[in-house]
Amino acid sequence: RKPMTLPRLAQMHASGEKITMLTCYDAAFASLLDEAGVDILLIGDSLGNVLQGRGSTAPVSLEDMVYHTFCVSRGHKWAWIVADLPFDSYHVSKEEAWKSAAALVKAGAHMVKLEGGGWTAETVRFISERGIPVCVHLGFTPQTVNALGGFKVQGRDEESAARMKRESQEAVEAGAAMLLYEMVPAALAAEITAASPVPVIGIGAGVGTSGQVLVLHDMLNITPGRKPRFVKNFMEGQTSVQAAIKGYVDEVKAGTFPVNEIHGF
Ligand code: KIV
Ligand code: NA
Repeated sequence: RKPMTLPRLAQMHASGEKITMLTCYDAAFASLLDEAGVDILLIGDSLGNVLQGRGSTAPVSLEDMVYHTFCVSRGHKWAWIVADLPFDSYHVSKEEAWKSAAALVKAGAHMVKLEGGGWTAETVRFISERGIPVCVHLGFTPQTVNALGGFKVQGRDEESAARMKRESQEAVEAGAAMLLYEMVPAALAAEITAASPVPVIGIGAGVGTSGQVLVLHDMLNITPGRKPRFVKNFMEGQTSVQAAIKGYVDEVKAGTFPVNEIHGF
Protein backbone atom coordinates (compact mmCIF):
# COMPACT_ATOMS: atom_id res chain seq x y z
CA ARG A 1 0.00 0.00 0.00
CA LYS A 2 1.28 3.44 -0.94
CA PRO A 3 0.81 6.54 1.24
CA MET A 4 -2.21 8.62 0.24
CA THR A 5 -1.53 11.70 -1.87
CA LEU A 6 -3.48 14.67 -3.13
CA PRO A 7 -3.41 13.50 -6.79
CA ARG A 8 -4.75 10.09 -5.70
CA LEU A 9 -7.62 11.76 -3.80
CA ALA A 10 -8.39 13.93 -6.84
CA GLN A 11 -8.39 10.79 -8.99
CA MET A 12 -10.81 9.07 -6.61
CA HIS A 13 -13.13 12.07 -6.84
CA ALA A 14 -12.92 12.04 -10.65
CA SER A 15 -13.56 8.31 -10.96
CA GLY A 16 -16.31 8.18 -8.33
CA GLU A 17 -14.40 5.95 -5.91
CA LYS A 18 -15.70 6.97 -2.48
CA ILE A 19 -13.26 8.58 -0.04
CA THR A 20 -13.35 7.52 3.64
CA MET A 21 -12.48 9.95 6.40
CA LEU A 22 -12.81 9.80 10.19
CA THR A 23 -11.70 12.07 12.97
CA CYS A 24 -8.68 10.85 14.93
CA TYR A 25 -6.92 12.37 17.88
CA ASP A 26 -4.23 9.93 19.03
CA ALA A 27 -1.61 7.40 17.92
CA ALA A 28 -3.49 4.25 18.92
CA PHE A 29 -6.53 5.11 16.82
CA ALA A 30 -4.35 6.47 14.00
CA SER A 31 -2.72 3.08 13.68
CA LEU A 32 -6.06 1.26 13.91
CA LEU A 33 -7.80 3.47 11.31
CA ASP A 34 -4.78 3.27 9.05
CA GLU A 35 -4.85 -0.54 9.17
CA ALA A 36 -8.58 -0.52 8.42
CA GLY A 37 -7.89 1.42 5.22
CA VAL A 38 -9.38 4.80 6.14
CA ASP A 39 -8.19 7.24 3.45
CA ILE A 40 -8.11 10.44 5.51
CA LEU A 41 -7.58 11.07 9.23
CA LEU A 42 -8.95 14.40 10.48
CA ILE A 43 -7.60 15.92 13.65
CA GLY A 44 -10.83 17.82 14.14
CA ASP A 45 -11.30 20.65 16.58
CA SER A 46 -14.26 18.49 17.64
CA LEU A 47 -11.63 17.26 20.11
CA GLY A 48 -12.85 20.22 22.17
CA ASN A 49 -16.17 18.43 22.59
CA VAL A 50 -15.01 14.83 22.41
CA LEU A 51 -11.80 14.89 24.45
CA GLN A 52 -12.04 18.10 26.48
CA GLY A 53 -15.75 17.96 27.32
CA ARG A 54 -16.38 21.51 26.19
CA GLY A 55 -19.66 22.84 24.84
CA SER A 56 -18.16 24.15 21.62
CA THR A 57 -15.02 24.11 19.50
CA ALA A 58 -14.24 27.78 20.14
CA PRO A 59 -11.97 27.28 23.21
CA VAL A 60 -9.66 24.81 21.41
CA SER A 61 -6.17 26.28 21.08
CA LEU A 62 -3.60 25.93 18.32
CA GLU A 63 -1.36 24.22 20.91
CA ASP A 64 -4.09 21.61 21.51
CA MET A 65 -4.31 20.98 17.75
CA VAL A 66 -0.54 20.75 17.39
CA TYR A 67 -0.33 18.23 20.24
CA HIS A 68 -3.01 15.92 18.84
CA THR A 69 -1.69 16.24 15.28
CA PHE A 70 1.69 15.13 16.58
CA CYS A 71 0.10 12.14 18.36
CA VAL A 72 -1.79 11.07 15.21
CA SER A 73 1.23 11.45 12.96
CA ARG A 74 3.21 9.13 15.26
CA GLY A 75 0.67 6.33 14.83
CA HIS A 76 0.07 6.67 11.14
CA LYS A 77 1.62 5.16 7.99
CA TRP A 78 -0.62 5.57 4.92
CA ALA A 79 -3.56 7.90 5.42
CA TRP A 80 -3.77 11.55 4.37
CA ILE A 81 -3.66 13.74 7.48
CA VAL A 82 -5.84 16.84 7.75
CA ALA A 83 -5.72 19.10 10.81
CA ASP A 84 -8.24 21.79 11.73
CA LEU A 85 -7.12 25.36 12.11
CA PRO A 86 -8.91 26.24 15.36
CA PHE A 87 -11.07 29.27 16.10
CA ASP A 88 -9.04 32.50 16.32
CA SER A 89 -5.96 31.03 14.61
CA TYR A 90 -6.61 32.27 11.03
CA HIS A 91 -9.05 35.18 11.29
CA VAL A 92 -6.96 38.28 11.90
CA SER A 93 -4.62 38.08 8.92
CA LYS A 94 -3.44 35.71 6.22
CA GLU A 95 0.05 35.89 7.70
CA GLU A 96 -1.26 34.67 11.04
CA ALA A 97 -3.14 31.94 9.20
CA TRP A 98 0.08 30.80 7.50
CA LYS A 99 1.91 30.65 10.85
CA SER A 100 -0.89 28.55 12.35
CA ALA A 101 -1.04 26.26 9.31
CA ALA A 102 2.74 25.83 9.33
CA ALA A 103 2.67 24.81 13.00
CA LEU A 104 0.19 22.02 12.13
CA VAL A 105 2.33 20.88 9.19
CA LYS A 106 5.40 20.77 11.44
CA ALA A 107 3.39 18.54 13.80
CA GLY A 108 2.63 16.13 10.93
CA ALA A 109 -0.41 17.43 9.02
CA HIS A 110 -0.48 17.16 5.20
CA MET A 111 -3.37 19.59 4.82
CA VAL A 112 -5.16 22.12 7.00
CA LYS A 113 -8.89 22.81 7.19
CA LEU A 114 -10.55 26.13 7.92
CA GLU A 115 -14.19 27.15 8.17
CA GLY A 116 -16.24 29.55 6.10
CA GLY A 117 -16.60 31.00 2.64
CA GLY A 118 -16.17 34.47 1.18
CA TRP A 119 -13.63 36.25 3.37
CA THR A 120 -11.50 33.09 3.69
CA ALA A 121 -10.67 32.98 -0.06
CA GLU A 122 -7.79 35.41 0.35
CA THR A 123 -6.40 33.29 3.21
CA VAL A 124 -6.82 30.05 1.25
CA ARG A 125 -4.88 31.59 -1.65
CA PHE A 126 -2.07 32.83 0.61
CA ILE A 127 -1.59 29.47 2.34
CA SER A 128 -2.01 27.20 -0.69
CA GLU A 129 0.24 29.33 -2.94
CA ARG A 130 2.93 28.90 -0.31
CA GLY A 131 2.60 25.14 -0.39
CA ILE A 132 0.16 23.98 2.27
CA PRO A 133 -2.93 22.26 0.81
CA VAL A 134 -6.18 23.63 2.22
CA CYS A 135 -9.61 22.10 2.79
CA VAL A 136 -12.50 24.57 3.16
CA HIS A 137 -15.34 23.58 5.52
CA LEU A 138 -18.67 25.04 4.31
CA GLY A 139 -22.34 24.62 5.12
CA PHE A 140 -22.77 24.36 8.88
CA THR A 141 -19.58 25.69 10.48
CA PRO A 142 -19.35 24.77 14.20
CA GLN A 143 -16.85 27.53 15.07
CA THR A 144 -19.50 30.14 14.20
CA VAL A 145 -22.53 28.33 15.64
CA ASN A 146 -23.63 31.47 17.49
CA ALA A 147 -23.74 33.57 14.34
CA LEU A 148 -25.66 30.80 12.55
CA GLY A 149 -28.36 30.75 15.25
CA GLY A 150 -27.76 27.17 16.40
CA PHE A 151 -27.17 23.71 14.95
CA LYS A 152 -29.12 24.18 11.74
CA VAL A 153 -29.08 22.71 8.26
CA GLN A 154 -27.60 25.26 5.85
CA GLY A 155 -28.55 25.95 2.24
CA ARG A 156 -32.24 25.09 2.59
CA ASP A 157 -33.55 28.17 0.77
CA GLU A 158 -32.66 29.27 -2.71
CA GLU A 159 -30.62 32.27 -1.64
CA SER A 160 -28.34 30.39 0.77
CA ALA A 161 -28.01 27.47 -1.67
CA ALA A 162 -26.84 29.93 -4.33
CA ARG A 163 -24.39 31.46 -1.84
CA MET A 164 -23.04 28.00 -1.03
CA LYS A 165 -22.41 27.23 -4.71
CA ARG A 166 -20.69 30.59 -5.13
CA GLU A 167 -18.54 30.05 -2.02
CA SER A 168 -17.41 26.62 -3.17
CA GLN A 169 -16.38 28.05 -6.52
CA GLU A 170 -14.50 30.92 -4.88
CA ALA A 171 -12.71 28.49 -2.55
CA VAL A 172 -11.56 26.31 -5.45
CA GLU A 173 -10.49 29.35 -7.50
CA ALA A 174 -8.46 30.47 -4.48
CA GLY A 175 -6.67 27.12 -4.48
CA ALA A 176 -8.63 24.90 -2.09
CA ALA A 177 -7.73 21.26 -2.82
CA MET A 178 -10.73 19.85 -0.95
CA LEU A 179 -14.13 20.99 0.26
CA LEU A 180 -16.10 19.69 3.21
CA TYR A 181 -19.84 20.21 3.56
CA GLU A 182 -21.61 19.80 6.88
CA MET A 183 -25.41 19.59 7.27
CA VAL A 184 -26.69 20.67 3.87
CA PRO A 185 -29.49 19.16 1.76
CA ALA A 186 -28.31 15.98 0.01
CA ALA A 187 -29.44 17.26 -3.39
CA LEU A 188 -27.45 20.49 -3.04
CA ALA A 189 -24.29 18.64 -1.92
CA ALA A 190 -24.61 16.22 -4.84
CA GLU A 191 -24.97 19.12 -7.27
CA ILE A 192 -21.94 20.92 -5.84
CA THR A 193 -19.88 17.69 -5.93
CA ALA A 194 -20.76 17.02 -9.57
CA ALA A 195 -19.57 20.51 -10.51
CA SER A 196 -16.45 20.47 -8.31
CA PRO A 197 -12.95 19.87 -9.70
CA VAL A 198 -11.76 18.89 -6.20
CA PRO A 199 -13.04 16.21 -3.78
CA VAL A 200 -16.03 17.14 -1.65
CA ILE A 201 -16.35 15.34 1.70
CA GLY A 202 -19.72 15.34 3.42
CA ILE A 203 -21.11 14.98 6.93
CA GLY A 204 -24.89 15.18 7.04
CA ALA A 205 -24.71 16.04 3.34
CA GLY A 206 -26.06 12.86 1.77
CA VAL A 207 -24.51 10.07 -0.24
CA GLY A 208 -23.76 12.15 -3.34
CA THR A 209 -20.46 13.63 -2.16
CA SER A 210 -16.99 12.28 -3.08
CA GLY A 211 -16.58 10.89 0.42
CA GLN A 212 -17.81 10.85 4.00
CA VAL A 213 -16.56 11.86 7.42
CA LEU A 214 -17.89 11.19 10.92
CA VAL A 215 -16.62 11.98 14.37
CA LEU A 216 -14.92 8.75 15.53
CA HIS A 217 -16.51 8.68 18.99
CA ASP A 218 -19.97 9.26 17.47
CA MET A 219 -19.77 6.32 15.06
CA LEU A 220 -18.34 4.10 17.83
CA ASN A 221 -21.33 5.15 19.96
CA ILE A 222 -19.20 6.30 22.90
CA THR A 223 -20.22 9.97 22.75
CA PRO A 224 -22.61 10.64 25.63
CA GLY A 225 -26.07 12.04 24.93
CA ARG A 226 -28.17 12.39 21.82
CA LYS A 227 -26.42 11.97 18.48
CA PRO A 228 -27.16 14.03 15.37
CA ARG A 229 -29.35 12.49 12.66
CA PHE A 230 -26.40 11.92 10.32
CA VAL A 231 -24.55 9.64 12.78
CA LYS A 232 -24.74 5.88 12.51
CA ASN A 233 -23.63 3.50 15.28
CA PHE A 234 -21.14 1.24 13.52
CA MET A 235 -20.46 -0.77 16.70
CA GLU A 236 -23.92 -2.30 16.46
CA GLY A 237 -23.58 -5.99 15.70
CA GLN A 238 -19.77 -5.86 15.96
CA THR A 239 -17.50 -7.31 18.60
CA SER A 240 -14.47 -5.09 18.07
CA VAL A 241 -13.60 -1.49 17.27
CA GLN A 242 -11.58 -2.77 14.31
CA ALA A 243 -14.65 -4.47 12.84
CA ALA A 244 -16.75 -1.33 13.33
CA ILE A 245 -14.20 0.80 11.47
CA LYS A 246 -13.98 -1.80 8.71
CA GLY A 247 -17.78 -1.74 8.48
CA TYR A 248 -17.72 2.02 8.04
CA VAL A 249 -15.06 1.81 5.32
CA ASP A 250 -16.99 -0.93 3.49
CA GLU A 251 -20.32 0.93 3.66
CA VAL A 252 -18.91 4.26 2.51
CA LYS A 253 -16.99 2.59 -0.33
CA ALA A 254 -20.15 0.72 -1.38
CA GLY A 255 -22.30 3.82 -1.17
CA THR A 256 -24.62 2.18 1.36
CA PHE A 257 -23.78 4.78 4.03
CA PRO A 258 -25.22 7.33 4.36
CA VAL A 259 -28.81 6.67 3.35
CA ASN A 260 -30.31 10.03 2.37
CA GLU A 261 -33.74 9.25 3.82
CA ILE A 262 -32.29 8.20 7.19
CA HIS A 263 -29.11 10.26 7.68
CA GLY A 264 -29.64 13.11 5.25
CA PHE A 265 -31.59 16.34 4.91
O1 KIV B 1 -13.86 18.88 13.92
C1 KIV B 1 -14.44 17.98 13.28
O2 KIV B 1 -14.63 16.85 13.72
C2 KIV B 1 -14.92 18.32 11.94
C3 KIV B 1 -15.77 17.30 11.25
C4 KIV B 1 -17.12 17.25 11.86
C5 KIV B 1 -15.85 17.54 9.80
O3 KIV B 1 -14.66 19.38 11.46
NA1 NA C 1 -13.81 20.87 12.90
